[in-house]
Amino acid sequence: MGRERLEIEFGRHAGWIVEAIEALDLDAMPAACRGAGDPNLFELLADAMGARPGALVLDVGCGIGGPGAWLATERGCEVVGIDVLEEPVRGLRRLFPQLTTVVATSRSLPFRNATFDATWAIGALESIAHKTEALKELARVLISEGRLAAYTFVSAAEGVDDAPMADRFQPLDALIEDFERGGFRVLTVDPSTLARPPATWRKAQNSAQAYASRLHRDDPARETVDRELHKFARLHTSGEIQAWVIVGTKEDS
Ligand SMILES: C[S@@+](CC[C@H](N)C(=O)[O-])C[C@H]1O[C@@H](n2cnc3c(N)ncnc32)[C@H](O)[C@@H]1O
Repeated sequence: MGRERLEIEFGRHAGWIVEAIEALDLDAMPAACRGAGDPNLFELLADAMGARPGALVLDVGCGIGGPGAWLATERGCEVVGIDVLEEPVRGLRRLFPQLTTVVATSRSLPFRNATFDATWAIGALESIAHKTEALKELARVLISEGRLAAYTFVSAAEGVDDAPMADRFQPLDALIEDFERGGFRVLTVDPSTLARPPATWRKAQNSAQAYASRLHRDDPARETVDRELHKFARLHTSGEIQAWVIVGTKEDS
């Protein structure tokens, strides 16, 4: 498997959402969020990683760029996105040409040591199979004491039945160990308790999703996407997976 497991859910589907945003002339920043899609969460993560104007921030698993666009617009950060798939990166470049983005895996980042002031990962860590290696890479490209703020889903038990194929959920303790093995000192670990995103944000995201589903209703890949999204929603509703915010700082070696 590897990249193929991500391709339909995050590759093909990303292209459909970009198509919908353009066809419906939607506000791209909210509509191009494919993780939490919530500006209240972005505020929290941006504060936690110390995002200040001019800071160089790495957006890990940037998708089609809604969160990165928020960070650049609202916090004046210089944002560099990386995503392992080409389709979202192409989409991000169309929607937000002012942002920088690169196709790369979090396991091997094409940046020098100590390049970034901070990094965030929104809805991305749970898809990464080799988390310790990825976290080591993130620590490597951060400046000393640079912070990583992550919003991610963990499993309540050791294993999760019938997880979406793109996801590799693990218990919270195991993820925290990965942070530490990766070279981070964990500063805070909190369950995400945010209310729903603002109505205007939800409306933009739902409109794009509905348009994409309609337009591609006869495509077998659409059924797969819907099935995977449904699996994720079921696990979340049942409490088998839970959203957490974890903030770590690069440990000085
Ligand atoms: C749920 S989407 C979230 C996108 C974006 N962070 C957002 O909130 O809109 C997860 C993204 O992480 C990317 N991804 C998954 N594994 C990755 C890896 N190992 N390296 C880089 N990107 C990865 C996927 O391709 C996908 O675009």
